[in-house]
Amino acid sequence: MNPKQIAAELAVSYIHTGMTIGLGTGSTAAFAIHALGQRFQAEDLTLRCIATSHESEDLGRTYGLPFVDFAAVHRFDITIDGADEVDSQFRLIKGGGGALVREKIVAAATDTEIIIVDETKVKAALGAFPLPVAVLPYAWEWTQARLQDKFGVPAHRRSLPSGLPYLTDDSLYLLDMAFAGPLPNPDFMEADLKTIVGVVECGLFVGLCQRLIIGYADGHVEEKAAPPTMG
Ligand code: 5RP
Repeated sequence: MNPKQIAAELAVSYIHTGMTIGLGTGSTAAFAIHALGQRFQAEDLTLRCIATSHESEDLGRTYGLPFVDFAAVHRFDITIDGADEVDSQFRLIKGGGGALVREKIVAAATDTEIIIVDETKVKAALGAFPLPVAVLPYAWEWTQARLQDKFGVPAHRRSLPSGLPYLTDDSLYLLDMAFAGPLPNPDFMEADLKTIVGVVECGLFVGLCQRLIIGYADGHVEEKAAPPTMG
């Protein structure tokens, strides 16, 4: 079985009837949506779901999962989401799939954020994966220049294969910061980034993962709970 699917299926086993659930975005989160959808169709589950992207909501709807508006819900019991990188302190880089803004809002409103990854995503230090930063399109070039000035690395605007700018579900641009090495001070970097006017959000998630599930190519799965200071 695909290691992402192994991790996803274990995460979905934590979902019970009556829960309000956040659904992440990306190929690993999609395995979780498939597994939850199958359970929903086979069991008598009462759920309320919110998706972090149109793509995930569309997939959930194919199983008849019941979605609610974010405005109608203040807390989520469990959110299941993927990540691009995770370190030993449960810090994450997310946003490879472009949904980092909604993913972070939903994570912040969630009691137990379960991050599901395959073993390739587990890193000694964050930063080999470009750090996505969501910015206002109106001022993207100005913001890009400020990011380069402040951090000394290029921030490439994400594009579609057509060359047009990639737009998030919230009509933002993404600038991918190419650190290509350990992120400097990951615990403080989000605050530093947000001093730049025009930055809406970044894909660095600190203190937002309560449980980590890692699927391995050999078929085994590992599960870790974040110490209270980290999650
Ligand atoms: C989307 C994300 C994804 O969780 C991340 O990109 C991992 O994707 P995948 O599961 O496809 O490897 O943050 O914004």
